[in-house]
Amino acid sequence: MTTGWKIAGADLAGWLSRAEQVIHLNPDGTAPRLNSVPQGNLRVGVDLGTAYTVLVVLDEAGNPLAGEYQFAQVVRDGLVVDYWGAVNLLRSLKERTEERIGRQLTRAASGFPPGVPRAEVRATANVIEATGMLCPNLVEEPSAANHVLGIRNGVIVDVGGGTTGVAVIEDGKVVYTADEATGGTHFSLVIAGATGLSFEQAEELKKDSREQARLFPLVRPVMEKVGTIIERHLHGARPESITLVGGTALFPGMAGVIEEVTGILTRVPDRPMFITPLGIALADTGD
Ligand SMILES: Nc1ncnc2c1ncn2[C@@H]1O[C@H](COP(=O)(O)OP(=O)(O)OP(=O)(O)O)[C@@H](O)[C@H]1O
Ligand SMILES: [Mg+2]
Repeated sequence: MTTGWKIAGADLAGWLSRAEQVIHLNPDGTAPRLNSVPQGNLRVGVDLGTAYTVLVVLDEAGNPLAGEYQFAQVVRDGLVVDYWGAVNLLRSLKERTEERIGRQLTRAASGFPPGVPRAEVRATANVIEATGMLCPNLVEEPSAANHVLGIRNGVIVDVGGGTTGVAVIEDGKVVYTADEATGGTHFSLVIAGATGLSFEQAEELKKDSREQARLFPLVRPVMEKVGTIIERHLHGARPESITLVGGTALFPGMAGVIEEVTGILTRVPDRPMFITPLGIALADTGD
């Protein structure tokens, strides 16, 4: 899809494509090392998600250098439910990334979904600090996503593993947020229920592009529910557009269903899954 979005001096699609090339699923064998050790401040972002924990490193100018992500159920809807599991996982992502870039990571920004209590936000910072990094910047996830998208007026909806986060943007600022428990996990549960597969098998099937057309009628009601959640949080407002981010936005046909339910133009950037983690890294200004 073409947009006028610009980031780090590059077009958004090119920048996201570069990011996807350097962010590796952990453990997937050997990720390549950088040819030379990056100089200057690094901008590091950590997203402790319900489905994926992601660590991303950008250079000072915002160019993607490296990253690692792994499926883990250590955080649920912004709450750390397995503290030591989260610390160990993040430590392993950090060590692999340090090996790849040839430098220590000393600081990282982290994100939190809207509406998470302060104490819980602090808990995610504690996880990061327990891996030996400082965590001076904590950003609300929709604001992080909008660091990347730069939307002036519209709605950003982050459909992750556990929740749907709705953020209304006016004049470039997030003016309203909400987070509700419907996400990709529910897609997988519906598929597991209908096929008799385990949750893990359903999760894999769901992400297989050859299977998605066949699975669409099964997950359509969950997409409609996401649409209803968005509609409810608009309180009758008619924004220009809805932009879907998060891994669940990768399911083909999602934008069409949301558009049908809400009657509002809905779009998905080419690579929606790492937008929030990348925005968290952009929020790490090195100050
Ligand atoms: N190709 C794909 N098609 C459909 N769904 C996908 C695809 N790739 C990943 N997903 C789903 O995206 C979800 C993960 O997205 P994301 O990383 O944005 O969530 P998260 O940040 O971990 O969760 P949350 O934001 O709810 O805490 C998972 O449910 C995963 O199954
Ligand atoms: Mg998320």
